[in-house]
Amino acid sequence: MLSPPSSIEGPLYKLSGVSFSYGTVPALRGIDINLNAGETIAVLGANGTGKSTLLKLLNGLLFPDSGSIVFKGRKITEESLSGAYSVEFRSSVGFVFSEPDVQLFCATVYDEVAFGPLQLGFGPDEVALRTEETLELLGLTGLSDRTPHSLSSGEKKKVAIATVLVTNPAVILMDEPTLGLDPRTQRWLLGLIGVLKATGKTFILSTHDLKLVGEIADRVVLLNEANSVEHTGDTATILADTKLLFKANIIGDPAAVSTEVGATIRL
Ligand SMILES: Nc1ncnc2c1ncn2[C@@H]1O[C@H](COP(=O)(O)OP(=O)(O)OP(=O)(O)O)[C@@H](O)[C@H]1O
Ligand SMILES: [Mg+2]
Repeated sequence: MLSPPSSIEGPLYKLSGVSFSYGTVPALRGIDINLNAGETIAVLGANGTGKSTLLKLLNGLLFPDSGSIVFKGRKITEESLSGAYSVEFRSSVGFVFSEPDVQLFCATVYDEVAFGPLQLGFGPDEVALRTEETLELLGLTGLSDRTPHSLSSGEKKKVAIATVLVTNPAVILMDEPTLGLDPRTQRWLLGLIGVLKATGKTFILSTHDLKLVGEIADRVVLLNEANSVEHTGDTATILADTKLLFKANIIGDPAAVSTEVGATIRL
């Protein structure tokens, strides 16, 4: 089921001058990046720098106010995703939201996982096969009759991941994948990403978790507090650049923290 994606020419995503605002609130400004197939890319940035917005743009949930996003040589617009191309795009790109509640809406875990393949038009046997295989892969078989909203947050996260993996997309976008997971589940997720990575899948992850970045990312896109790209580069180089990470508010300065605490206590 987990076959490698077909090879393509050029970058998987090409973003040129992408800007996006929520009304008057700017979320991304002038983003120019290429993301390649088969890479695992970590999007790093302080709160509010635009990581989630970037992933939503890559998934066609939002569209740039200006600039362009080209996926496999094809521009992603509201129009291009409202036609026949939408099925091809939606089956190629999966998105795991940071909050699983946003993603889960069916009566049972089984229906939740079966929903994607049904939407993509697979026949009943294929839907059942994929759903059962995916539930088993994620250790969710015992929860298949449960209501998603009655699950713990880690279980919900696993179901949200299952709803994406079941359609076997070549590109997986994950917004803060380890958020709210216990250490064993985090480790399990890193292992799963490693296995899927080896099949040639592309992962684009937003995270505050530098350990996760160090373990699985090939490349980092670092966003700054001006909602622009501060830097892109290979993971080892960026993680070793503590000046850059401090400037981008990815790591704190211990001296500054103790001063702030001292000021608070005096008040
Ligand atoms: N629905 C929305 N309506 C208005 N403004 C929004 C909305 N969503 C995000 N924003 C604003 O857009 C900017 C970028 O937000 P975004 O959620 O993309 O940041 P982020 O890097 O994912 O942050 P975090 O680390 O907190 O998850 C922020 O200033 C945020 O307040
Ligand atoms: Mg976010």
